Amino acid sequence: MAVSTPDAPVPATMSAMLLTGHGDVDKLVYRDDVPVPQPGPGEVLVRVTATAKNNTDRKAREGLYPTKDKGDVTSFAMGGEATLTFPRIQGADIAGRVVAVGEGVDAGRIGERGLLDFNLYADARRDLNLTPDYYGHGADGGFAEYVALPSDQFHHVPNPELRDAELAAMGMCSYQTAYHMMTSARVAAGERVLVSGASGGVGTALIQLCRIVGAIPYAVSQPEKADALLALGAEAVIDRGDLPSFVERVLEATGGTPIDAVMDLVGGEMTDRFIDTMIGDMQARTSYPRLSIAGASGGNLSEIMWTRIYLYQVQIFGVSHGTREEAEQLVAWIREGRLKPVLHAAFRLSDLHAAERYFVSRGSNFLGKIVIVPDAQWEEHGAPFALADPEGPA
Ligand SMILES: NC(=O)c1ccc[n+]([C@@H]2O[C@H](COP(=O)([O-])OP(=O)(O)OC[C@H]3O[C@@H](n4cnc5c(N)ncnc54)[C@H](OP(=O)(O)O)[C@@H]3O)[C@@H](O)[C@H]2O)c1
Repeated sequence: MAVSTPDAPVPATMSAMLLTGHGDVDKLVYRDDVPVPQPGPGEVLVRVTATAKNNTDRKAREGLYPTKDKGDVTSFAMGGEATLTFPRIQGADIAGRVVAVGEGVDAGRIGERGLLDFNLYADARRDLNLTPDYYGHGADGGFAEYVALPSDQFHHVPNPELRDAELAAMGMCSYQTAYHMMTSARVAAGERVLVSGASGGVGTALIQLCRIVGAIPYAVSQPEKADALLALGAEAVIDRGDLPSFVERVLEATGGTPIDAVMDLVGGEMTDRFIDTMIGDMQARTSYPRLSIAGASGGNLSEIMWTRIYLYQVQIFGVSHGTREEAEQLVAWIREGRLKPVLHAAFRLSDLHAAERYFVSRGSNFLGKIVIVPDAQWEEHGAPFALADPEGPA
């Protein structure tokens, strides 16, 4: 039996964007008659105020997660079973307010503003997450007015200096992945870390997290974004264009010292060059070269000689999401004001098609996150971050 707040009654139906199958944006259908979920035992019902977009929304929609045959149209199923079924409400990085609680949850939580740890954890382990899945994929997410979530994963973040859209922009899909890339590679204070895809959600998180742990981030991006990345904490920004001179330019930026660890979100033909930034002078190193891989924005296939990997003892870490304890550490840093939102713009939920188009054609000046705000919440939570021309170039 759910307990809800008397002054803000929860309706029976809501607006939501339903993903109806694999394909183009036309598979996203906006409806206003979707039943509002009931919070089950241990859950809270959240009125969504902002949900950040991630690449995974598009990849899951298009079925771009093959692990065996590269031509497969499929989403991930690390637990053995496919969990993406249709219709599905996508949207992983949810900020909002608790409006009702399920059995076993303190009714005092009603009214709390919070941020979701987006994982569908398979068990209660705090230090391990072997079968990554998430709200917005294996269960309904935040592209809706309401969502039911586990109470222990909806973290209270009262900070009045953070607007809800900004809080969503610090969602765990980017930040927890970034942090787990670093913890997997045991990034330590004083180490030089190459951050690819640096202007994206994960990249901007990596730059900030490197600074928090005392590491030195070198951002790989485009020249137009350099000022913003330097302001965020990058030690230097290396243009990702002109691949043949890439390694030379990285070493110029580090004063000739090899990169200690690479955070690879790009893949494709860049990964081999990333390895080169670490292994050119093994005598100059004090630790093994480390490569953390969590994305493939530049291509899903890379050709790398095994001899280069094992003779140079390159340690490679595949990373998806992260653990409960990492999410809790990140929320603590958000509460302490040590992480900053990098929010580019907000779109109305009913305009999600336009937001998807804008997200994939980000152009040269688009840094950080896009958030989606339910139309009913737009004036308070979306309008302050609206673009002058949402259909225009990024
Ligand atoms: N494993 C996980 O758990 C996990 C979680 C989140 C994201 N991801 C993946 O990680 C990647 C980054 O995610 P995100 O949310 O940060 O994405 P994003 O916000 O879209 O940023 C991606 C960035 O990659 C760079 N980029 C795009 N195309 C490129 C290309 N062809 N070559 C080189 N760089 C390119 C761009 O940065 P510049 O213009 O600055 O170069 C872009 O801003 C995606 O592949 C995503 O699917 C994985």
